[in-house]
Amino acid sequence: MSKAIDLAAFPRDFLWGTATSAYQIEGAVAEDGRSPSIWDTFSHLPGRIDNDDHGDEACDHYHRWPQDIALMRELGTDAYRLSVAWPRVVPGGDGPVNDRGLDFYDRLVDGLLDAGITPSVTLYHWDLPQVLQDRGGWTERATAEHLAAYASAVAARLGDRVTRWATLNEPLCSAWIGHLEGRMAPGLTDLTAAVRASYHLLLGHGLATQAIRAAAPGARIGLVTNHSTVEAATPRPEDVAAARRLDGHLTRWWLDPVYGRGFPADMRELYGVDLPERAGDPETIAAPLDWHGLNYYFPAVVVDDPDGPVPHAREVHRPEVPHTGMDWPIDADGLESLLLRLTEDYGVRELYVTENGSSFPDTVGPDGAVDDPERTRYLEGHLAACARAVRKGAPLAGYYAWSLLDNFEWAYGYDKRFGLVHVDYATQRRTVKSSGRWYADLIRAHRALGATD
Ligand code: FCB
Repeated sequence: MSKAIDLAAFPRDFLWGTATSAYQIEGAVAEDGRSPSIWDTFSHLPGRIDNDDHGDEACDHYHRWPQDIALMRELGTDAYRLSVAWPRVVPGGDGPVNDRGLDFYDRLVDGLLDAGITPSVTLYHWDLPQVLQDRGGWTERATAEHLAAYASAVAARLGDRVTRWATLNEPLCSAWIGHLEGRMAPGLTDLTAAVRASYHLLLGHGLATQAIRAAAPGARIGLVTNHSTVEAATPRPEDVAAARRLDGHLTRWWLDPVYGRGFPADMRELYGVDLPERAGDPETIAAPLDWHGLNYYFPAVVVDDPDGPVPHAREVHRPEVPHTGMDWPIDADGLESLLLRLTEDYGVRELYVTENGSSFPDTVGPDGAVDDPERTRYLEGHLAACARAVRKGAPLAGYYAWSLLDNFEWAYGYDKRFGLVHVDYATQRRTVKSSGRWYADLIRAHRALGATD
């Protein structure tokens, strides 16, 4: 077992988990009354996804979930972060609830609980019903209200067994990558749409928080956001200012309003887009939360880019730093510093790493085994960083490795593999990778510490 990780730093009841999301693994896109989501539409547009891959079948988790729960048991995990597909539960976007869609999550939650695994349910992991996109999607206030109604239906059905809820996953990706950069659904490149979407996503988060609390007393509710540390590549004032802007874009724009500080003035000015604010919204957006989920993958080092897109900061490639198969630089210190920033600057009292992981071009050996030492090294470095953050006071209560399974990696399709478990898409055969075995050993070693205390 790893000596690099100060395992004793983690509390005894630390949750060891894995994470996935609905569209990336479920498949069964037309079953039991599900309607298309914006990702069904986007992934079927020619040229938008590597190899023109799509999520029609994905990991076929919709049918193979018992086997996937067995894999979680094999890894020895305590918790599983999943997302519910809005278009399964409310296929019309708003209006009638589709019981057959909810039945699937009902079975899944029961299966997890029977296996001794705690479910943590995210309501929105990017799969907006296409019918709502046709009515303007996140650029419209009504979408935030519909999210709350859908959240209420899910919480009413599962809230007797599920206590851990997240409203949104990574609203930054929905707004900026989906509406400004165009690399994710709905594929727009429009700053006004992006800023409006960011606002309505956060409003939807607040409204959904209220709705879950009303439907499921005892629910513990959080928000899952992704961040990067941002550094200027040089001490030039222009680059330092660019780093400040990118940090505003990636972090302050999201966390400041959620933690009661309102939207940052410098970013409002930079975007130059009127926010669709109404009285009472700031309080709704800043609804008190029980926990915060951090997704962390990579840091950013930037230079000023006056002619580039907002926020006019360009990431520089640093060949001296190791990179993952996504070409993302590897820097575990960034995770430590973001955990401490959430603790110290934003006052978060209960923290989870809700996603962290890496993609590498894994291959299946002649003996059928998948040996992925780089992924193990990535996990080891990042868990060591988590332990350092805990020693410095971060109230970290759990870690969810991204991902349980190789899956549909959005615009990158199936070539990018993040799983602790390899999936052969032709046969749907699952094989635990050596990193998965390492994770299982780590969990066992941490439990053993508690046993000898
Ligand atoms: C995050 C997403 C998740 C997965 C990982 C690699 O941004 O939340 O669905 O794709 O990246």
